[in-house]
Amino acid sequence: MVGWQKSTDIAVDLGTANTIVSVDGEVIFNGPSCIAIERHYGSDKVVAIGKRAKVMRGRTHSNLEVINPLSNGAISDFEVTKIFMATLISILSNRVSSHPRVGISIPQNLTQVERNSLYEATLLAGAKEVIFIEDPFSAAVGTGMDINTSRGKMIVDCGSGLTEVSIISLGGMVTSSCTKVAGDALDCAIVDYVKRQKNLLISKDCAEGIKIQIADISQNAPNTNCCVYGKDLLNGLPVGFEISSTDVRAAIMPCVQKIHATILEVISSIPPQIVPDILEDGVIITGGGALMRGFREYLEDKLKMSIHVSPDPLHDISKGAMEILKQIPHSSFIG
Ligand SMILES: Nc1ncnc2c1ncn2[C@@H]1O[C@H](COP(=O)(O)OP(=O)(O)OP(=O)(O)O)[C@@H](O)[C@H]1O
Ligand SMILES: [Mg+2]
Repeated sequence: MVGWQKSTDIAVDLGTANTIVSVDGEVIFNGPSCIAIERHYGSDKVVAIGKRAKVMRGRTHSNLEVINPLSNGAISDFEVTKIFMATLISILSNRVSSHPRVGISIPQNLTQVERNSLYEATLLAGAKEVIFIEDPFSAAVGTGMDINTSRGKMIVDCGSGLTEVSIISLGGMVTSSCTKVAGDALDCAIVDYVKRQKNLLISKDCAEGIKIQIADISQNAPNTNCCVYGKDLLNGLPVGFEISSTDVRAAIMPCVQKIHATILEVISSIPPQIVPDILEDGVIITGGGALMRGFREYLEDKLKMSIHVSPDPLHDISKGAMEILKQIPHSSFIG
C-alpha cells in the first residue's frame, strides 16, 4: 500500500492492575494485567488476556491459571511476562512493524534483576528495542507538566500495587519514595475487615467493587450501603449482606494514613529552594487511587497544601510514556 507505513513504536503502561498499550497516541489495549494460560503436557496456550482473563480468576480448573505478570509493582514470573508481552505485541501485529521498539513505563523501584528480566522477556517477545521510562516521569508528562524546567514539581501516583511520590526538576528526580500501600492494599484491608468484624469471606475483586462504589474518606461523608455476597466463615454457607461506607472507611483508613506518611517523608526531604515551587503549584495526584472520594480533601487537610486530581488519572502514564518515547530518536538505543 503506497503512503501507509506500520508504526515502529509501542508505548506500554505495565501496571499492577491495568495495562495500557498505545500506538501513535491511540490506545489499542486497555485492560487488567491478567493472562489466562492453559497448561497441557508441558505446553502453554494463552486462552485470554485482559478483562476476559480477569473474570476467570478464582473460577479456573487445575490446568488453567490466571496470572498477573506484575504483583505489588514487581515482576512476578519471567515466562509469564514473556508470554504477556508477546501476546500484546501479536494483538498489534496489523498496526506495528514485526519488530517494534517498545517503550515500557515501569515502577521506579523495579530492581535491576527485574529490569533485566523484563528487558529480556520483551526482546524474546519480538521487540527490536526496549526502552524503560520510569513511572513518575511518564505520569508527570501525562498530566501535562513540563518536567525539564528548573521549577520543582510534586506528583503522587497512587496505583494498585504501589504509591510513588516524586519531586521532579530539570528532567530528573530530586527526591522520591514509594510504598506498597496502594489500591490493592485497600482491597485487602476491606477483605480483612469483613473477615474480622463480620466473620464473612469476600473475594478481593468484591472488595475492590465495594471500594469503588462506596469508599469515601471525606469527614462528613453521608453513610451509604452496598449489597454484596460472601461466605459465612462459621458454617461455610453463601450469604448476601450489606456493608456501609462507615465500615469501609474504618477498614481503609490505616492504609490511607500510610500513604499520607510516605508523602510526608518526601515533603520533609524537599530541598529548600524547591519548597516555594511546591507550595505555589501544589501537588498533583494521579493513578486510579486518586479517584477515591475524599482523598484530595483528606490530603489537603493533612498537608495544608493545594492538591489537584489529574483529570485523567488512569491514562496519564500511558499518555506520558508515548510522549517521552516520541522524543527519543531511534538511533539512541537505551538498554
Ligand atoms: N473510583 C475509584 N475509587 C478508588 N479506587 C479506584 C477507583 N477507580 C480505580 N481505583 C483503583 O485504582 C487502582 C488501579 O489504578 P492504576 O490503573 O493507576 O494502577 P496500576 O497502574 O495498574 O498499578 P501500579 O501503578 O501500582 O502498578 C486499582 O486498585 C483500582 O481499584
Ligand atoms: Mg500505574
